[in-house]
Amino acid sequence: MTTSARPDSTETTAGSTDVGGGTGVHARWLVKDGYDVDLIDPVPRHVERASAVCTAMEGDARSLPAADGTYDVVQLLGPLYHLPDPADRHTALAEACRVVRPGGLVAAAAINRYASLFEHAALAHLHTERMQASITEILRTGTYDGKRGFTIAYFHRAEELAVELKDAGLKGVEVFGIEGPAWSLLKAQQHALGTMPSEDSVASALAAARLAESYPELHASNSHLLAVGRASS
Ligand SMILES: C[S@@+](CC[C@H](N)C(=O)[O-])C[C@H]1O[C@@H](n2cnc3c(N)ncnc32)[C@H](O)[C@@H]1O
Repeated sequence: MTTSARPDSTETTAGSTDVGGGTGVHARWLVKDGYDVDLIDPVPRHVERASAVCTAMEGDARSLPAADGTYDVVQLLGPLYHLPDPADRHTALAEACRVVRPGGLVAAAAINRYASLFEHAALAHLHTERMQASITEILRTGTYDGKRGFTIAYFHRAEELAVELKDAGLKGVEVFGIEGPAWSLLKAQQHALGTMPSEDSVASALAAARLAESYPELHASNSHLLAVGRASS
């Protein structure tokens, strides 16, 4: 992935917001890399923990507290997972576009439409009719009702994620797979052996992710997708 907004020694520190930033998992390394980060999350106990990492406040991706053009970078690494209504996802992405500066970067993650199919096959869950029905529904609609084991969620196809960013006004939109095509093999190995996958298995899975990156038809094999685009200058 070549898109970069990393500050260097000649730049002023880049301002970014981590929308749906949870407890500050990503904010921690962004702060370490020299970024100023404002983290927004609707869950009070996440915000409390993230406050130890960066500026953190309760809020919703659909109504951000910042003024227009505040940030160099806006990342949404989670909110789109939890907004099954397309109008809500559009509002969240439009808000990201509003608070990023002209030419600034927006990065949005999504759960892949096919992730639960791969995961439950790897974990040998798909032999029951209940699981088959549940996965069939996710594949058909992209939504999970949150009734068992996982929260209400939306699962994107790669093309759909790109269209959503473009519809929000972003330019030069690109989609990347995050885990690559071998992530569910690691899960299957871990499940079958009851141990962590070997270093060679992890290295192979990472190599597969890098080799697959330039082939959009392999996006469907990832567990998560990352879309990036820039606001108009
Ligand atoms: C799977 S977690 C990801 C946390 C973190 N970004 C990460 O990648 O580790 C999803 C996060 O999105 C947050 N979230 C859910 N709905 C949201 C919304 N409407 N606006 C902003 N954040 C939301 C959740 O509270 C949660 O912290």
